[in-house]
Amino acid sequence: MNIWPYTIEVKKKLEEQGLWRPLLGPQALYIHLMGSTPRFREGLFGGARGPGKTEASIALGADRIPNPHYRGLVLRRNARDLADYEARCEEAYQCFNVQVRRNPMVLRFGDNSQNTKGAVVQGGHLHDLGSYIQYQGQQFSRIFIEELTQIPSELLYKQIMSSCRSIYPELFPQMILTANPGGVGMGWVKKRFVEPIDLRDGDYTKTELDNGDILYEDDKIKWWQRRYEWETEEGEKRLTVWNEIFDKEENAMAKEGHEVYRIFVPATVDDNPILTKNDPAYVNMLEGLKATDTALYEAWRHGDWSVFAGQVFTEFDRDKHIINNFADIGTTTEEFNNAVKIISMDWGYSDNTAIYFTALLNGRPVTYHEMYGNKKLASEWGEELYNYLNDSEQRIDYFIFPDDMEDNKNGFSSPIDDITEWINKLPPDKQPIMKKMGREGGSRMIRQQATHKYLMMKPDCAKIFRRCTNLIRALPNLVYDEEKKEEIDTHTDHELTNPYDGWSYGLRWLAERKEGELVHKSELVGQKMVGVVAGETTYKDIGIDPADVLRKQKRRGGDWKTM
Ligand SMILES: Nc1ncnc2c1ncn2[C@@H]1O[C@H](COP(=O)(O)OP(=O)(O)OP(=O)(O)O)[C@@H](O)[C@H]1O
Ligand SMILES: [Mg+2]
Repeated sequence: MNIWPYTIEVKKKLEEQGLWRPLLGPQALYIHLMGSTPRFREGLFGGARGPGKTEASIALGADRIPNPHYRGLVLRRNARDLADYEARCEEAYQCFNVQVRRNPMVLRFGDNSQNTKGAVVQGGHLHDLGSYIQYQGQQFSRIFIEELTQIPSELLYKQIMSSCRSIYPELFPQMILTANPGGVGMGWVKKRFVEPIDLRDGDYTKTELDNGDILYEDDKIKWWQRRYEWETEEGEKRLTVWNEIFDKEENAMAKEGHEVYRIFVPATVDDNPILTKNDPAYVNMLEGLKATDTALYEAWRHGDWSVFAGQVFTEFDRDKHIINNFADIGTTTEEFNNAVKIISMDWGYSDNTAIYFTALLNGRPVTYHEMYGNKKLASEWGEELYNYLNDSEQRIDYFIFPDDMEDNKNGFSSPIDDITEWINKLPPDKQPIMKKMGREGGSRMIRQQATHKYLMMKPDCAKIFRRCTNLIRALPNLVYDEEKKEEIDTHTDHELTNPYDGWSYGLRWLAERKEGELVHKSELVGQKMVGVVAGETTYKDIGIDPADVLRKQKRRGGDWKTM
């Protein structure tokens, strides 16, 4: 029976036949979208507590059970959660003659006594990192992951997804996913499904389509915000705006007509009348959070992905910490020239390299430039830095790097050797002094404290230029480690930890520099400016001609503040 479009009438008909029926609204939409086409390779449902996520995933599990070739995998956070899922499946799948084995869960279907010919659904949990590897090489046409944000990184998710494949066209491969905001993987889940383009700071186009949908596009992603209008049983009109996402990079090798999309259908407990009517205690539990934990309340009750419990830099505030350019904080060219400036970096090839340019102005760090990306050799970064610095008027005083950049593998030069080689090609007055940061015990905590210190500093806190998009994305999403409660979780998505690491090596160095050590030649000049009046020293005496600097900036036609 074709149930779409799914209305109150269709729902009643299913009811009369004694069949399971989806809830009106987002649950029905999600089941319809995922059940109907291979185009939707990955689908996330929910994003808040109680809309019927688990129920939707059990229902979607059912349509393939009659196919004896079907192999499914259900992953949940821990054994206890899996047992709950198991019990619900056992009940829901009775009509399919399900046989359940526990610990780990295996559901077998079919009548043959050996149970060798029917569909099989396996269960597992995500408790340790080893669990990601054990499914590799196996083949499941559907993988169900509940609480997707428990997976620390996108890389591990993709490893699991590599087992999602099928040789039977009718059993097209799909990832059936549910999640609540929060958890160690919140950052990557949000970016992959909820907000694939940063609408505040990203560089994108926006098109309003004739049907009212909105298309956002940047160089990597096409993101449709689609409108689904529906009616509750009481005839109240509602709107669900869901995401359809096309990833240009991930589809680069796809044959025409075989491109895959991912979707996110958001829903809250308001979309589940069964709970709101029959289980006031559940809704009260959610409402009760309002008084005890506002962030968790917003996340679980309203599906708000911008706040959540467990984040480390809760003081990070876009309005306070982000600026467009130096004009926003009234910095003059001269002040910029006179400021101590540092580059700090974290190196990675498969992971990301993250490089930050920070000026110390009025005692607070202002980060004005970011270089970021992976799959580039250290020598290539060295060349990029060389070109950037050689073309620019700015003089960087110190270059801060972590000591693991000195590791030379297999007798090759180390990343920092390769970079220094390029730095040494700069004119001597443009060469920063190289400073290594040790990783002795506790250094992570020191960096964390330095970051807190500068974010909270009064009256002037740290500032970050809006164009440092990776750092801005990372900071509010870093979470605490579940075991080492005080520390940032380093298993999180490296798209988050790499920018933070690169930036915070610099902050730590600034925070730790000893009194007197940091005497910068232009600072000395700044102090002697008084003497200029008396004819003692001029900028020219130390090789800097401010008029010339300004002239060059004007000639370039650009505003130095947006360099
Ligand atoms: N289509 C449906 N038909 C009947 N009952 C449903 C349906 N969808 C959800 N429910 C009921 O609503 C309740 C909540 O559903 P479910 O457990 O799937 O929500 P959830 O979003 O997974 O919640 P949580 O965030 O707590 O994990 C359950 O009692 C479930 O049986
Ligand atoms: Mg659930």
